[in-house]
Amino acid sequence: MKFASNGTQGKIVFKSILISIFLLITLAFLRNGIRNNSSKNHRKEPLNLEDIVLQKFRPTYKQIDWIYNERYSDTFLVKEDEALYLRDPFDLNELLFSDADLVYKNERINYDGYSVSADARYVLLNVNRTQRWRHSFTASYYLFDTLEKEVTPLVPQEENLRISLAVWSPTGHQLAFVYENNLHVLTENREILTLTTDGNENVFYGLSDWIYEEEVLSSPSTIWWSPDARKLAFLKLNESATPIYQFPLYTSESDTSSFEFNYNKDIKIKYPKAGQPNPTVSLLFSDLGTDKTYPLHSWNNHVFEETVVQNVLWVNESATLVQFTNRNSTCKKTDLLDLETKRISSVLSECLTDGWFEVQQFAKTLPVNNPNYEVWTNGFFDIMPYQDYNHLAFVPFNGSSPTFLTSGTWDVTEGPLSIDASRGHLYFIGTLKDSSERHLYYVSLDNLEIHNITDDGVQDGYYSTNFSPSGNFYVLNYQGPRIPWQELRSIQKDNFTVRIEENEHLHKILGSYNLPQIKYDKLIVNNTTLPYMERKPTNFNPNRKYPVLFFAYGGPGSQQVSKLFRVDFQTYLASHPNFEYIVVTVDGRGTGFNGNDFRQSVYQNLGTLEAMDQVSAAEHWAQYPFVEQEKVAIWGWSFGGYLTLKALEASNVFSYGMAVAPVTDWHLYDSIYTERYMNLPILNENGYENSKVHNITILKEKKRFLIAHGTGDDNVHFQHVMHLMDQLNLANCYNYDMAVFPDSAHSISYHNASLAIYHRLSEWISMAFSEKKSVMS
Ligand SMILES: *[C@@H]1O[C@H](CO)[C@@H](O)[C@H](O)[C@H]1NC(C)=O
Ligand SMILES: *[C@@H]1O[C@H](CO)[C@@H](O)[C@H](O)[C@H]1NC(C)=O
Ligand SMILES: *[C@@H]1O[C@H](CO)[C@@H](O)[C@H](O)[C@H]1NC(C)=O
Ligand SMILES: *[C@@H]1O[C@H](CO)[C@@H](O)[C@H](O)[C@H]1NC(C)=O
Ligand SMILES: *[C@@H]1O[C@H](CO)[C@@H](O)[C@H](O)[C@H]1NC(C)=O
Ligand SMILES: *[C@@H]1O[C@H](CO)[C@@H](O)[C@H](O)[C@H]1NC(C)=O
Ligand SMILES: *[C@@H]1O[C@H](CO)[C@@H](O)[C@H](O)[C@H]1NC(C)=O
Ligand SMILES: *[C@@H]1O[C@H](CO)[C@@H](O)[C@H](O)[C@H]1NC(C)=O
Ligand SMILES: *[C@@H]1O[C@H](CO)[C@@H](O)[C@H](O)[C@H]1NC(C)=O
Ligand SMILES: *[C@@H]1O[C@H](CO)[C@@H](O)[C@H](O)[C@H]1NC(C)=O
Ligand SMILES: *[C@@H]1O[C@H](CO)[C@@H](O)[C@H](O)[C@H]1NC(C)=O
Repeated sequence: MKFASNGTQGKIVFKSILISIFLLITLAFLRNGIRNNSSKNHRKEPLNLEDIVLQKFRPTYKQIDWIYNERYSDTFLVKEDEALYLRDPFDLNELLFSDADLVYKNERINYDGYSVSADARYVLLNVNRTQRWRHSFTASYYLFDTLEKEVTPLVPQEENLRISLAVWSPTGHQLAFVYENNLHVLTENREILTLTTDGNENVFYGLSDWIYEEEVLSSPSTIWWSPDARKLAFLKLNESATPIYQFPLYTSESDTSSFEFNYNKDIKIKYPKAGQPNPTVSLLFSDLGTDKTYPLHSWNNHVFEETVVQNVLWVNESATLVQFTNRNSTCKKTDLLDLETKRISSVLSECLTDGWFEVQQFAKTLPVNNPNYEVWTNGFFDIMPYQDYNHLAFVPFNGSSPTFLTSGTWDVTEGPLSIDASRGHLYFIGTLKDSSERHLYYVSLDNLEIHNITDDGVQDGYYSTNFSPSGNFYVLNYQGPRIPWQELRSIQKDNFTVRIEENEHLHKILGSYNLPQIKYDKLIVNNTTLPYMERKPTNFNPNRKYPVLFFAYGGPGSQQVSKLFRVDFQTYLASHPNFEYIVVTVDGRGTGFNGNDFRQSVYQNLGTLEAMDQVSAAEHWAQYPFVEQEKVAIWGWSFGGYLTLKALEASNVFSYGMAVAPVTDWHLYDSIYTERYMNLPILNENGYENSKVHNITILKEKKRFLIAHGTGDDNVHFQHVMHLMDQLNLANCYNYDMAVFPDSAHSISYHNASLAIYHRLSEWISMAFSEKKSVMS
């Protein structure tokens, strides 16, 4: 589950629309009147909700797609001026195509996306794309031959085949693709090899099903090419035993005389809810040379019967590592599979009693053998828990204990990102300076010393990076807190830096807006240290009294209190003169990067400690003389919507709440996410009962709350709020409003719904806070 959206305003639910608009206008008029007399910043404009929702303030990050290339090293693709170029950090600048070249049967191909083969000979174009789930889509595919300057359909005889996925080989130009859930390979000489034939609506080869895409791989692909491009590893997922969740779509585009228009279209998804059968998984290999496909995996006959495969890594051209967990993610194993001998050996096997293994795909081996680093050859590097934090480890293949390369009360958040085998440097991103920042470092295999690459001194910074395939160059992304930029850098030459993005548009416009004052700090309440971020109105006046809005997410391992640049709904509510709320975000127990105990303390009982920490923080803010105690509210989306309801349930410090697309009962959410934190329902009945939103007696004491949900939510089903409303009715609870968004999925964006929901949220909260006395006394 991930937080779905960005930002912002609403419709009045518990008064009439007319009254609310009248109030908003009056309020704005009065405020403007006052501001014009007293404010120093009177020439600055307030942020506009539409601009925020439509992402006017979103920083631009140039997409640098490195491609491994046999002709040149360290090349990348750049899309510019309706053309695609192959460039390198120096002076290579080869035109791969102009959009005008893409003509098939006298028609311009209007592509939605592209990818380029490793040898840069072909460009694969997808057209007429239909989104499936969060990451996946089906499309028709065309190939552009950069040599012959010619466009052909991927399968020449079948122009409009709907393909689910296509993945280039790491060398040359072979293409693995999934059509009707079977895996095929388009070979170098454009023959099609069919690797599987019994794929069907329940059996997926090379393609994620709903739950693998959303909760395990964050990708539709379950294909891993061998480094020499002669073999493929891929998953077979069989979800025959997984039950179907079905929901209607109401607003089909079809014409009014059609059956679908009259009777609705039903969407059916195989969706395992907590405790229900997961897809079964097998790992298969195809040897393209011998045309043999065979399964090889180790989890059929023991505890790992209900395995979840997290990662597959080719160690060399004839061996892979596979990392997998049991279904509740309490045990994790890494096996080494030798494809020559078909031998399987266990490399690592660990179980936890009071916590879980998160999904990760970081494992890496030394890219080339260097006699200086021989001892680091027969094993892999990965991130593993170590003394309450996550650190870089070396895990030998022979089953000996891991060696840790880093340690301390901070996390390695991503790594190794690249390994420089000539100098023995492992690059990683970590929170060494502070959990709200991210800096780039390397650790040296010679002495395990850590060196910073980004300045982790007094300047705050949140960096990410993207290394070239050789590891010689990287794109450094500065993502906040100030206006983001990007640089291309070399690991050998410190003075080689090329600015590739400045975000000029933000430099130009940001200065003309009223922005809130942002403070990052830590709060100690009830012996727990909670990182927080507070946004105060531009012209904050300690002698006035302000409403406080908490904005929470709070899901296990997540983070909201970070120094990423953002101008979002929170910024808007804190700074716009119609609102001027103090907007606070607190990362409570359960969230990540503050120690594994802190994160895992919520185990098997979600919603209690998380809510307690929001409540403690709210009680803290309520004590400030500049806060109106009866105007403290909380809002959130997804897990944050759930946390909103649990926080309303936990105390009366919050008078109002807005829960968007909330989980209300973990029985109803998907198995892999839920069981990782809550275990199976049969093993934790009390935990599930306590975790659901259930205390309507307390909800009735709230001044008012809002629930919003999209009826087309394939992730947190509309069913969640229906179950809650049923309980509310049974308990005669009426002090809430409901906002429904037809056919919108979890992000609530279908048919202009993004604007609709943020209008609704901002108007609702504004009405709530202005219901009693005016804020401006
Ligand atoms: C896209 O789909 C439309 C309608 O199905 C079809 O007419 C058109 O040829 C397709 N375009 C391409 C480039 O395949
Ligand atoms: C998928 O699993 C079902 C049992 O749940 C089995 O009957 C079926 O044969 C399997 N399909 C394939 C292609 O393995
Ligand atoms: C591949 O790696 C495995 C594990 O280290 C090793 O046993 C095998 O000999 C290697 N094979 C080749 C061809 O290098
Ligand atoms: C997780 O599931 C396994 C069965 O796969 C079970 O033995 C174990 O007790 C569960 N974990 C916890 C903490 O209950
Ligand atoms: C296992 O491999 C590690 C690292 O290569 C080595 O240090 C250790 O001695 C080996 N242990 C055994 C029992 O072979
Ligand atoms: C490392 O960070 C320090 C401040 O902590 C800074 O002075 C120094 O320039 C940084 N090193 C590099 C290579 O940027
Ligand atoms: C970078 O420094 C090297 C010497 O360390 C020098 O030869 C080279 O010209 C410099 N390059 C740039 C772009 O300044
Ligand atoms: C303080 O924490 C303890 C244990 O986590 C909890 O039982 C207690 O209710 C908390 N008190 C407050 C005021 O939050
Ligand atoms: C406060 O927390 C610390 C660290 O978690 C713990 O050692 C200490 O016993 C706690 N104190 C109280 C009063 O709970
Ligand atoms: C709801 O909370 C109140 C106050 O804490 C408590 O007295 C009551 O027993 C709770 N009801 C349920 C059903 O848990
Ligand atoms: C809202 O929908 C209309 C009609 O489809 C469209 O023209 C308009 O661009 C949409 N507005 C936004 C902000 O998406």
